[in-house]
Amino acid sequence: VERTLSIIKPDATKRNLTGAIAKKFEDAGLRIVAAKRIQLTPEQAGKFYEVHKDRPFFGELRDFMASGPVVVQVLEGENAIAKNREVMGATNPKDAAEGTIRKEFAQSVGENSVHGSDAAETAKEEIAFFFSGLELVG
Ligand code: GTP
Ligand code: MG
Repeated sequence: VERTLSIIKPDATKRNLTGAIAKKFEDAGLRIVAAKRIQLTPEQAGKFYEVHKDRPFFGELRDFMASGPVVVQVLEGENAIAKNREVMGATNPKDAAEGTIRKEFAQSVGENSVHGSDAAETAKEEIAFFFSGLELVG
């Protein structure tokens, strides 16, 4: 089985959507094997999204991710990385398929409710960014 990192972003935690989003993961067959609610500093958010540091929206993304609580989770299952991205839907909610999290809940391309790792290597790095091995309970 595979593991991936998910973040429920501040726009969603503010609107009390944590449970509704977690249900989407579980309904898709993903198991939540670690979870915590934290608030990132702008420095921590910037470090997490460092790959995007040269993009024009980097400052906006960093400040948004530090603007309120986030719920970071490790999801486990068969093809968890791809399955999670499928359940999330396209980055821009306007392009997201019916039934996806971003279609139902996202407010804009920036405030798009969830993050999910995009590949095996990044999943490993992103899980280690937030969790120690002891915190993962399958
Ligand atoms: P993540 O799972 O969050 O990484 O989303 P993604 O993989 O679907 O998108 P990508 O990695 O390309 O972009 C990372 C994040 O940057 C997105 O989820 C958005 O929150 C944000 N982002 C992307 N494009 C824009 C944009 O044009 N404007 C703003 N404000 N934010 C953007
Ligand atoms: Mg991405």
